[in-house]
Amino acid sequence: MNKTILVLGGYGSTGRPLCDLLLQETDVTVVVAGRNVANGKALVAELEGKFGGGRATAVTVDAASHSSLEAAFAGVDMVVVASSTVQYTEQVARACLAAGVDYFDVNFSEEKTAVLRQLAPEIEAAGLCFVTDGGFHPGVPAALVRYAGSRFDQLQQANVASVIKIDWRHYDVGVDTAEEMAGEFMGMDSSYYRNGRWHKSPMMGMGGLLTLDYGEPFGKQYAVPMGLAEMRRLPELIPSLQDTGFFVGGFNWFTDWLIMPIVAVGVKIHVGWKRPLGRLLLWSLHTFSRPPYGTVLRLEARGKRAGSAYSLDLQLTHEDGYVFTAIPAVACLLQLVDGTVRQPGLHWQALIVEPTRFLADMARMGIDIQENETMVEAVMNPI
Ligand SMILES: NC(=O)c1ccc[n+]([C@@H]2O[C@H](COP(=O)([O-])OP(=O)(O)OC[C@H]3O[C@@H](n4cnc5c(N)ncnc54)[C@H](OP(=O)(O)O)[C@@H]3O)[C@@H](O)[C@H]2O)c1
Repeated sequence: MNKTILVLGGYGSTGRPLCDLLLQETDVTVVVAGRNVANGKALVAELEGKFGGGRATAVTVDAASHSSLEAAFAGVDMVVVASSTVQYTEQVARACLAAGVDYFDVNFSEEKTAVLRQLAPEIEAAGLCFVTDGGFHPGVPAALVRYAGSRFDQLQQANVASVIKIDWRHYDVGVDTAEEMAGEFMGMDSSYYRNGRWHKSPMMGMGGLLTLDYGEPFGKQYAVPMGLAEMRRLPELIPSLQDTGFFVGGFNWFTDWLIMPIVAVGVKIHVGWKRPLGRLLLWSLHTFSRPPYGTVLRLEARGKRAGSAYSLDLQLTHEDGYVFTAIPAVACLLQLVDGTVRQPGLHWQALIVEPTRFLADMARMGIDIQENETMVEAVMNPI
């Protein structure tokens, strides 16, 4: 029987393309969930018009209400969290455990990760598969490094950086989401791996700036180290790795140099300022973002194969940052739904996916992927 996936936040900026791609790429039935059922029904009407077959329904769910979660999760096979509900992670996860359904999220939050790590033994004992840190970043960077690892005998260096230029005025980003964005600065981690050791970059990551050339239209752009849980496992998985890290690009000059320092300091002084600081952040994104727009992830790797040294560059681009979040999430869900990578326990999207298929599926769904391998130094064959 076809599976049913409930998407919490299904009509949000990430949820909409995610539901659309799920119906396009699989035979699952989608339940669009959120607090405003009229918004859910409007999306269902759109999806029905496009895909037909009665494969989408809408339901009212408030993640703050245990009984609402319990009622909605009965009878579904998986819950995808595409909502700004990290403060309710424990009750969403516990409702999944109680209903015996798998879980997947696209949130980025230390608080969420800590809750899920605590529940990991229960998740495994229940035979359920929980996948966290789905989407673009987190979600893709460590998968790119694992892909590079499969291309070398010895992968030595693999850095991933992003460019995120979004026309925020086109999206109806909610104040709960803005508050969550501000909250991310509370536990901001600026770690990266150099010469076989983890380092923390000072000054909100500015001490570890990385500049890469993305070609037209973005040219050279700087990015600062951003510690992602998925990157932490890489030196253990690829022991030859000496340098690795994820580096996040800026939004626009005003937000990067003025607003982000204010938000970073403000949320540490008083947690109750998260909401007004989130509004300030959203205002600056709306006001100062300028074209060219687009979202890019770039991997620059170096290593050895058959004694020769090679460089490998991978550049992934999509014009729409939210579609670029939904595509990798769905590429991972394809591998979970067909059971090829599904296993009990708590997992990270970038670490559970099979990376070659993951990249091929993302390309099919519309991400432009350019791969360039160059021999840097040929093996010397003494005669
Ligand atoms: N990993 C990545 O690459 C990546 C990229 C982008 C975003 N994200 C994450 O994705 C999440 C959503 O972001 P977004 O930009 O798509 O936000 P958004 O456009 O504001 O949408 C948020 C959605 O969550 C729903 N929601 C909020 N509170 C809820 C509650 N208590 N119960 C049920 N539904 C609730 C909203 O509907 P109602 O308000 O009507 O309930 C809405 O559908 C955020 O956590 C963000 O950090 C991750």
